[in-house]
Amino acid sequence: MTETSSLFKCCKDLCGKNCLQQTDLITWDEDACGRDILMLYVDGLVFSLIVCFLETVTARRLMVYIKQHLPRRKKIMQDQEALSNVPKDSDVIAEEERVRSMHSDAAADEALVVSDLTKMFKAFCAVDHVTFSIHQEECFGLLGVNGAGKTTTFKMLTGDCIPSDGNAFIKEYSLKENLEEFQAFIGYCPQFDALIDRLTGREMLELFAYLRGLSGQDLVEAVNMVIKLTDLSEHADKQTQFYSGGTKRKLSIGIALIGSPPLIFLDEPTAGVDPVSRRKIWAALSQARTKTGAAVILTTHSMEECEALCS
Ligand SMILES: Nc1ncnc2c1ncn2[C@@H]1O[C@H](COP(=O)(O)OP(=O)(O)OP(=O)(O)O)[C@@H](O)[C@H]1O
Ligand SMILES: [Mg+2]
Repeated sequence: MTETSSLFKCCKDLCGKNCLQQTDLITWDEDACGRDILMLYVDGLVFSLIVCFLETVTARRLMVYIKQHLPRRKKIMQDQEALSNVPKDSDVIAEEERVRSMHSDAAADEALVVSDLTKMFKAFCAVDHVTFSIHQEECFGLLGVNGAGKTTTFKMLTGDCIPSDGNAFIKEYSLKENLEEFQAFIGYCPQFDALIDRLTGREMLELFAYLRGLSGQDLVEAVNMVIKLTDLSEHADKQTQFYSGGTKRKLSIGIALIGSPPLIFLDEPTAGVDPVSRRKIWAALSQARTKTGAAVILTTHSMEECEALCS
C-alpha cells in the first residue's frame, strides 16, 4: 500500500486530524442518516395518502371537473365539436338514436351502454363521442384502423384512463359515479400482456380468481376450467417469463375469463396465436357466452375472427 492510497490515509494513528470520526448513524447529526430515515417515513405516508385519495371517486370527479373547466380545454372541446361535424355512417346514426331514445328499463337490460364517450389528449381527439350499447350474450366487434381509438375506448371503460366527456353504464352503475361496482362486472384482456414474470400461469389465474372473490374448491375448479378452455395445460406450471408470445396471449384471455364476469373486453385477443389455438379460443369464448350469458366486446384486425365470433 502506498502512502497516497486512500486506505492508507484513513488508517488509525496515521491520518491524524483527517481520520474519519465515528458517529452514531441514527441521530439528527448532519453526518448521520436520522433525517433521511425520517423523510423516507414522511414521504411514504404522504404518497400513500395521495394514492388513497386518487383512488376515490371524489378525486376522479374533481379531476374531470378541473379538466373540463380549464379555459384552454373548453376552447379545445368547442373547436373539436365544430370539427366533428363530419358526416357519419347511417348505421352509426341509427345506433346513436337507438341508445339515446332508450328507456331506463331497457338500458338496465343491456350488458353495457356507452354514451358519448370522448377522450382528448391535449388538442388531439382520440375517441370522439362514441355511442353504442351491447345486449346480454352479444359479441360486439370494434373494428378500426391503427390509431382509431379502440384501446383508448377500452382503457376508459376499464377505469385505466379518465374520459374527457361522456359516460357508460352497466345495470344501474355508471362509469363516472360507481367505478368500483362498474369494474366488478368486467373481465379484461389488454392489448399488451400485463403478467408477473415470476408467477406461473396457474398462480396468475389463482391470483385473479382470489380478486374475483373465489376461494377453496370453487377457485381450483375455475382455474382448471380456464386452463383447459385456453389450451394452457402444458404450460400452466411454468413461470410466465418463459412463455412464448402466443402462450402469454392465451393466459391474458384466461385472466379475462376467470370468475365468469358478465362483460368481457378483449383487445386483439388472438394476435400472435397459432391458427389451431385460435380456433380453440374462439370455441372457448363462444362457450363462455352461452354458458354464463356473458357479453363480449373485442377489437381485431381479422375479419375471419369477427365472422367467427361477432353476433
Ligand atoms: N397517452 C396518450 N397520449 C397521447 N396520445 C395518445 C395516448 N394514448 C393513445 N394516444 C393516441 O390516441 C390514438 C388512439 O390510440 P389507440 O391505442 O386507442 O388506437 P388503437 O385503435 O387501439 O390502435 P391499434 O389498432 O394500433 O391498437 C392514437 O393516435 C394514439 O397515438
Ligand atoms: Mg389498440
